[in-house]
Amino acid sequence: MKIACIGAGYVGGPTMAMIALKCPHIEVVVLDINEERINAWNSDTLPIYEPGLLEVVQAARGRNLFFSTDTSKHISEADIVFVSVNTPTKTSGIGAGKAADLTYWEGAARMIASNSKSSKIIVEKSTVPVKTAEAIGKVLSRNCSDPSVQFEILSNPEFLAEGTAIQDLMKPDRVLIGGSDTPSGRAAIKALKEVYENWIPSERVLTCNLWSAELAKLTANAFLAQRISSINAISALCEETGADVQQVAHAIGTDSRIGNKFLNASVGFGGSCFQKDILNLCYVCETVGLKEVAEYWYQVVSMNDHQKNRFVERVIGSMFNSVKNKKVAIFGFAFKKDTGDTRETPAIDVCKGLIQDGAICAIYDPEVSPEMIFRDMSTPKFEWDKPNYTKSASRFLENVLIGSSAEDAVKGAHAICVLTEWDRFKDYDYKAMYEQMSKPAFVFDGRNILDHDKLREIGFIVYALGKPLDPFLQKVY
Ligand code: UDX
Ligand code: ADP
Repeated sequence: MKIACIGAGYVGGPTMAMIALKCPHIEVVVLDINEERINAWNSDTLPIYEPGLLEVVQAARGRNLFFSTDTSKHISEADIVFVSVNTPTKTSGIGAGKAADLTYWEGAARMIASNSKSSKIIVEKSTVPVKTAEAIGKVLSRNCSDPSVQFEILSNPEFLAEGTAIQDLMKPDRVLIGGSDTPSGRAAIKALKEVYENWIPSERVLTCNLWSAELAKLTANAFLAQRISSINAISALCEETGADVQQVAHAIGTDSRIGNKFLNASVGFGGSCFQKDILNLCYVCETVGLKEVAEYWYQVVSMNDHQKNRFVERVIGSMFNSVKNKKVAIFGFAFKKDTGDTRETPAIDVCKGLIQDGAICAIYDPEVSPEMIFRDMSTPKFEWDKPNYTKSASRFLENVLIGSSAEDAVKGAHAICVLTEWDRFKDYDYKAMYEQMSKPAFVFDGRNILDHDKLREIGFIVYALGKPLDPFLQKVY
């Protein structure tokens, strides 16, 4: 058997590497139009940072795992084609700012159709709106000249989270396969199920109809994001009332019906999925006339935006209502720890908010390159998901400095903002950093990871999200 995957990104790369590792009898080829990305996958400096990924790639690469730009050859030879290309939010036209832009998906489908001489199973791996499979099916069947070639489309959403992708792929809670309830649809589901059963117990491989699988992916992400917006809403109330959001989260999390995961108040959720999937969900609701349902889910995104704005206002308000020409050290730019990914990271909006008020942001992240930070700070909303978007001129860039280390970023700074929960931030010598800073020196912990009592002992004025406010900050308000 041969598997090809179109799109060598955060989903396609790790997922195919795991399939290749666990199924040595299957040849797996990962394809991309981006040559630089493919070259990186073929080197020991992979294009994405993911703990444990390099070891998995090295174990299978050259044996039954290959990375290539030769899409036509490998698609024509494959029995199963996974499609894992980007699905950006539309930036213009009908549904701008909400609907999914399926240009890349459609391009992949046309390429599959024109290179297929035998029947194939096509697997949706990227998040797409409900009923995409239907549209893609039409593109495939109308563009393939050989009438004997049949395409069976499956939806097999990926639930891996970045930073823990390898564990998630090795031992997933479940694998979901959606397909048509026809003899050929059931046969295709069975074929894909057998691939996963090489390492995943069969009771964890769930099957359902196509639309359920597509909708389950959007719903899972909407529910997860909703928990974060819910606890973030409570964090604002905690600050006003003197309650402590971590204590509230702990108390509610011990109720087994609620559970203790995804209850960390934060400066906001980021990542390539949550906002995009919720906007998709809202758009699908609107298009079928469910305005109230769309508005309900849209609140999850609004609350996330509110949390980022609220954080910026706290920083500016605490620093005597002006950050003009003040250096602010930004600790962490990735959307979460253990990844170099910055897609939709709250750091972009927070830094832009501070810069609007004249701040100079000195950004340090152990895994994000200066080039990426410059690109992100100059990219208009929703443009990040277009391949090869490049740095453009932006007034924000004038106020961005890159810290070569955290120590470098804090030199002469008035404040530190913690925006990513990297473990190493906990162990810094904050006393030495304090000495290097302008006074009063502030710490704004947007992730609640630091030892706030210790920081206060050193002399810092500390704002911790969702915690009772320092007397100093109360006076300012
Ligand atoms: C998410 C889903 O978890 C995954 O199943 C899906 O396939 C893709 O989208 P990912 O975006 O990689 O994965 O990261 P996730 O761990 O879900 O975190 C998303 C964002 O929420 C991050 O910015 C994170 O910092 C934030 N978060 C998470 C919180 O603010 N608080 C929490 O309690 C948990
Ligand atoms: P994800 O997080 O969903 O994996 P990425 O943006 O990391 O998304 O990866 C998507 C990849 O798909 C990109 O590397 C992009 O170059 C690739 N891609 C998009 N369209 C095509 C196509 N028609 N053929 C091959 N690769 C494509």
